[in-house]
Formats: sequence, structure tokens, C-alpha cells
Amino acid sequence: MLVGQQPQPAHTLADNLKQPIINFAKPETTGAGYIPAEALLTVSDIPAKIEDRSDWYGPELEKQPELWKYWLTSSDVEEILTATNTFIDSGVDVALITKEKFSLPTLAPKLAQYRDELLNGRGFILIRGLPTHTLTRHQQIVAFTGLGTYLGEMVPQNQKGHVLGHVKDIGHDAQKPETRFYATHEQQRFHTDGCDTVGLLCLQVSEEGGKSKVASSTRVWNQLSQERPDLAQVLLQYFYWDRKDEVVEGEAGYGLAPIAYYFKNRFMLHYDRNFLRTAARHANVPALTPIQLEAIDYLEATAEKNCLRMELNVGDIQFVHNHQILHARTSFRDSAEKTRHLLRLWLSTGGIGGWDLPWDPQGSRKRGGVHVKVQRETVPLEAE
Ligand SMILES: [Fe+2]
Repeated sequence: MLVGQQPQPAHTLADNLKQPIINFAKPETTGAGYIPAEALLTVSDIPAKIEDRSDWYGPELEKQPELWKYWLTSSDVEEILTATNTFIDSGVDVALITKEKFSLPTLAPKLAQYRDELLNGRGFILIRGLPTHTLTRHQQIVAFTGLGTYLGEMVPQNQKGHVLGHVKDIGHDAQKPETRFYATHEQQRFHTDGCDTVGLLCLQVSEEGGKSKVASSTRVWNQLSQERPDLAQVLLQYFYWDRKDEVVEGEAGYGLAPIAYYFKNRFMLHYDRNFLRTAARHANVPALTPIQLEAIDYLEATAEKNCLRMELNVGDIQFVHNHQILHARTSFRDSAEKTRHLLRLWLSTGGIGGWDLPWDPQGSRKRGGVHVKVQRETVPLEAE
């Protein structure tokens, strides 16, 4: 229950299922798409131990950075800068950038390998060595979005239609239910973003904190379902998700989706405590139950035990495949000299080698992100 909220009348899940949840099943939804009640799974529907490359143990992998950290060579950088300046000279709007407009003749095959690692391998990579400190903001944005076109298609990250985001503390109040945490300095607990792949380019680090953590969802599930099958079963059932007021008129302010799912031999978690916690502000939505709270606490604790920690330094680019990776960051403190600032991309990989999803089995080209109205896609130069 949120502070200051009146107690809601007790409604059961069954009551709420009778109410229409308009448009939550739209195929472009990626964060936690609607799955019909009859398609929800039980623990026995999922292999007892999922053994594929998505299963990895963070503390071990931390000691093998050559497996996930890639350095750009000087000729890679030169190629990126040439493509960047050519694109800028063309005068095309950055929101319309494509691979064809950002030519990387020798780097493209490497980026194809990185994409394969993201979608069919461990699910995350770090690319190091983009000299952002020597670039203008416009160049930084074009270089990053240009690289992104080789990994997926940009989708809007908020109701303003921003296809490039700024992760920066701009003083938003983390206590307000509609606040998105990327605009605060608060810690972000383990979660997934509402898109296939998320990319971050670090422009500036904070004075203190802001460390990044990633954990394999498969690993978390393998351990959790072994140790606490009762809680695993809870994660396969419906949770209410707040939509943070990013809805069009007539849509419900919340949706229903399970956290864990298994589809076409892929295990996936879609999770964000912040969206589950605030769902109860909507009429008829009950607060999380004690067993649901226990299940998500256990999920986060298991992620913490199995995670890989990494620093994002200036010029570093991290890409994470949300369907198989939970990510987190510690809280941070800025100073006058060091104000943490990351650029963020949300990419769709539907139809270009991305996972088939239960609510989008054919792979929509532009799935995921926030689609709330007919909006022009824009690329803001600064956090808004
Ligand atoms: Fe995130």
C-alpha cells in the first residue's frame, strides 16, 4: 500500500480477470506482455535444469573479461567517426538513422557477432574505447545510435516518443508512483527493461556509486526453482503491473503478466519491482501478497548472489538482452565536476534474429518500448 492511499476493497484475482484489460495484449509490448490465463505454466512445464549458454555464474565470469569485454581498435574508432561525420553532413534527422546511412564496412561483421552473443549467448556485452570525451554531443549521439542500428531497431522509451534516452539524476522524486528511476540517483534493483535489448553509453561517471550489475535469468531460475519450487510457482502466475500513466485514453492503467515464462526452449524473466509495487494505486488492484513479496525478494537475492559486477567508464557501451538478463545499478552521488550521465537505447530485435515471444511469436519489427499515442520519434540532446 502506498503512503497516503486509502485501503482498497478486497478484490480477488478472479474478479479482476473479468474486467477488460484493454490493449494490454498489443503485440508490440515487450516488457511483460499479456499471456492468457490458460497459457500460464507450472514448474513441471519447465526443464528441471536449463542448460544452455544463457546460464552463467557472475563471480566466475567476472574473472574472464575477455569473454564479454570488447575493445574497439583504432581503425574501428576511425570507421565509426567517419560514418558519424558523414551522417551529420547528410542532414538527416537522427531518429531516422539506419544501417544503410551509417556504413561500417569492417566493423559490421564484428557487430553481427556481438548481436549473436546478445541473443544466443550470454546476453550481455561491454564495448570499450569510444572516445566520447573528444566528441560533440551530436557526434556522441550519432555514433551510439549508428552502432545501435547493427543490433536492433530503436523504439520509444517514454510517452514523449524519445528513441534516445538520458539516464541522469534530474531530481525526479523516487517516492512518486509515476516516476521512472532512470531520472533519479536511487539504486535500481534487479529488473528488466521494457524492450528486447537495452544499450547504455557512458558519457560521465558519478563522484561515487552507480556501479552496474548483471545476472543470468536462467541461472537465477535454475537455483531458485531447485531451492524453492513453491516460490518459483508464484513467479509463473499473474502479477499486476503498473503502466506508470503511460497509456492512451481508455486503456487500463495496469496489466497482468507472469514474471517467469518458458517459450520455444527459451527461459525468460520480465521483472521490475517498482512497477509491481505501485500497481496497487489503481482501483481494484490488490497489494502484493506476502508470498508474492517473498518470491520477488528471493528472486532479487538469488540475482545478487549470482551477478557479475562491472564499472561503466567514460566511453563504455553496455548492451543487455532483457529476456535473459536482470540488470541493476547501485545508488550514486554526483558532484559539480562529476555528474553521471548515460545515453540509453531501447532496441527491438523482432524479426531479425530476436527471440520469439509468447505474445509476439512472429517477431514484430518494432516491438517493445512505450507506444501510447501517435507520436513523432525524437532524439533529445539533453535529459528532459
Ligand atoms: Fe533498466
